[in-house]
Amino acid sequence: MTTRDTTAGPLTTESGAPVADNQNSEQTGVGGPVLVQDQLLLEKLAHFNRERIPERIVHARGAGAYGTFTVTADVTKYTRATFLSEIGKQTEVFARFSTVAGNLGSADAVRDPRGFALKFYTEEGNYDLVGNNTPVFFIKDAIKFPDFIHTQKRDPYTGSQEADNVWDFWGLSPESTHQVTWLFGDRGIPASYRHMNGYGSHTFQWNNEAGEVFWVKYHFKTDQGIKNLTSQEAAKLAGEDPDSHQRDLREAIERGEYPSWTVQVQIMPAAEAANYRFNPFDLTKVWPHEDYPPIEIGRLELNRNPQNIFAEVEQSIFSPIHFVPGIGPSPDKMLQGRLFAYGDAHRYRVGINADHLPVNRPHATEARTYGRDGYLYDGRHTGMKNYEPNSFDGPKETGRALWQPVPVSGPTGKHEAPSHAEDNDFVQAGNLYRLMSEDEKERLIANLAGFIAEVSRDDIAERAINNFRQADADYGKRLEAAVQALRG
Ligand code: HEM
Repeated sequence: MTTRDTTAGPLTTESGAPVADNQNSEQTGVGGPVLVQDQLLLEKLAHFNRERIPERIVHARGAGAYGTFTVTADVTKYTRATFLSEIGKQTEVFARFSTVAGNLGSADAVRDPRGFALKFYTEEGNYDLVGNNTPVFFIKDAIKFPDFIHTQKRDPYTGSQEADNVWDFWGLSPESTHQVTWLFGDRGIPASYRHMNGYGSHTFQWNNEAGEVFWVKYHFKTDQGIKNLTSQEAAKLAGEDPDSHQRDLREAIERGEYPSWTVQVQIMPAAEAANYRFNPFDLTKVWPHEDYPPIEIGRLELNRNPQNIFAEVEQSIFSPIHFVPGIGPSPDKMLQGRLFAYGDAHRYRVGINADHLPVNRPHATEARTYGRDGYLYDGRHTGMKNYEPNSFDGPKETGRALWQPVPVSGPTGKHEAPSHAEDNDFVQAGNLYRLMSEDEKERLIANLAGFIAEVSRDDIAERAINNFRQADADYGKRLEAAVQALRG
């Protein structure tokens, strides 16, 4: 259980001098103009003006909590990561859950993917797994991400989210059909952050002591059970309690009802990637469980609330490039773009010393770098030399990379992700549709049709429907009829 800290003692200025009067500004006389020598007034107004930092460009709205990751299976034949080295080993974690498109003050109960970002404070540095509650994504190349997000956010002219923009982009990006089917299905609006699964979504590299490579996908299965809201329930809740997810998470932890997730991985030996029926590095595809059954490896529990939302949640930073020895990236083109984007966002949003704030810095080791100074530098290097190599016993390179090299071939150029034997943009969307119960199909069609019907142009609506038709003829036919009924 987390209780709120309190502070006793006299009120002071920012420089620590005791404050005599916090109710009245200092004036030239009773009823006269205010004096510049009122340090407290000037300091309060100036500090207030600077209280906000830029919100995250995506995932602005979120909630965080600390907890523990416990290893429950021996995975040393797959990875040499020390935090995964022994059954029973525990690692401190910070998690931040979020919605994607809404601004900082937006409502939680909306149809949108949920961010599922984890920071493992390992003794070999922080490992960040910056995933979602969906195993796939809308696009497969990072170069499309800014355009995609522009369609989800406010239109530059109307200032609102526009159905035209959303469906125009999805219709013209058929690779989105799988994720859109997922998002408009029952799991598209989780009842809370505790009642949803998390996924690393991308394929990552694990490598063992012998240097063998495995490709992995992470799954975090909620121990609370999946619970979702219908569109109608969500619309009501979003209006009545915009903070529903955030409050639910904090209150559950305060009650001592610690949410937990069973952690599983799918593991593909590196040699199997080239001939797998789907491109294993395509973020719009899952690896069906019959191909690579999930193996349970751990348990994640959240058990401590942050004391200060701004310091620990707003200023928290997660980056897909934060790997540790034994774990690395795959050639997934989306992941590759993300390896750049997050650090850049952090330097803009929080500053060059963001990595060294209490929530972000390593907790089980320390950062030993020759990077120096900049805004809000805390002097952590004391008097040590600020160059390398040096003859003064400063930190030295290890000679061993975190991950193994990946063989490449062919000319440089703007290439599409390679298609494997069973790859196309619709096959897994159709499979997902056919897995749904009749009731779920009905809700899916109603959710999609309600939104597509808002589109102003028939060609945009038709192109969007055509993607679902290609996934499954029945899916397309029913959707077309439902949209026509609404559009009249
Ligand atoms: C190329 C595609 C993508 C780009 C360029 C991108 C970029 C970004 C940026 C700039 C942020 C804000 C970071 C910050 O200000 O701290 C962010 C947040 C986030 N992104 Fe992405 N993103 C991409 C795709 C994805 C995907 C595929 C996932 C999940 C599988 C994802 C999950 C998240 C999460 C969970 C956050 C919030 C992290 C937090 O809680 O601080 N993103 N993304």
